Amino acid sequence: MDFKIALLPGDGIGPEVVDQAVKAVDAVCKKFGHTVTYTKALVGACAIDATGKAYPAETHDICMKSDAVLFGAVGDPRFDNDPSAKERPETGLLAMRKQLELYANLRPVETWKSLISKSPLKTELVDGADLICIRELTGGMYFGEKHEADDMAYDTCKYTRPEIERIVIKAFEIARNRRKKLTVVDKANVLASSRLWRKVAQEIAPKYPDVETDYMFVDKAAMVLIQNPKYFDVMVTENTFGDILTDEASVIAGSMGLLASASVGVHTSVYEPIHGSYPQAAGKNIANPLATILSAAMMFETSFGLMAEGKAIRDAVAASIDNGIVTEDLAGNNKAYGTTEVGDWVAAHI
Ligand code: IPM
Ligand code: MN
Repeated sequence: MDFKIALLPGDGIGPEVVDQAVKAVDAVCKKFGHTVTYTKALVGACAIDATGKAYPAETHDICMKSDAVLFGAVGDPRFDNDPSAKERPETGLLAMRKQLELYANLRPVETWKSLISKSPLKTELVDGADLICIRELTGGMYFGEKHEADDMAYDTCKYTRPEIERIVIKAFEIARNRRKKLTVVDKANVLASSRLWRKVAQEIAPKYPDVETDYMFVDKAAMVLIQNPKYFDVMVTENTFGDILTDEASVIAGSMGLLASASVGVHTSVYEPIHGSYPQAAGKNIANPLATILSAAMMFETSFGLMAEGKAIRDAVAASIDNGIVTEDLAGNNKAYGTTEVGDWVAAHI
């Protein structure tokens, strides 16, 4: 096949980790006889500096014309400490999700045997945990009506029935291809939007009799994730809950630097690590590239349906972890390798 991939490295460690994912993509394409063309585009703080916009129209155009987008991270401390800034790096990420209508964010959490000791949780709780969070990505408080003044501010959590239906259906389809268990996470005891979520999910559930469905309040889900992560197979939830629960879930695997994600919906899908721009580490060659490399594996599987290619990347990542070719976040008392060394090793292993 012949792929057109848009590269949006963004800010902080984004460019370094995307470079390593590109090495893995090139290696897989060479191995399986595919060709690939990359087009780089600006997003985040670097885009604001260059164009005044965090997600410039030109970047959107490049994404729309590509088969997939590989995304690094956005964020810059210059903006974090300036609440008055109108255009923020994160605005770029949100604009991209909205304009590409990427309503479903797939965040798998898996564990690697040789890393289980890195998890702050007890080995017997973590060993074998394998779940995926389906986070709604284009609705809720992130995009609802907002008001921001000195004396009062609010964000609105609004969901329409079609918005809930499409994400819940997506979650059932994913559950059907896994261990067939779906947990709908909400706060239906308090929030009206959650009650609509639960109602819609209860209407759809009978169409998937092969999937066991249950409903859990988000506060309890936060607890069960830590107490018994193996309880979950697939969970589906609204945007803000999903943002919070997936950072929490990343702890299960031992490092946030391992969590990949796919954002899918109407237009070109985006593949990105769930970690942020980690500005303190930028340019130091210490950032863990594995989450971005694993995001590239998800790209082959989810966008191109090429499972063997995805597996070749995953096997190489697993081998790097097993052989201790890892960055400082995972190295413990052993030798820590640089971002580029890990990337080179994984590409060579593919
Ligand atoms: C994520 C990030 C983003 C989010 C930020 C950078 C806007 O935390 O992808 O989880 O909140 O969605
Ligand atoms: Mn987040």
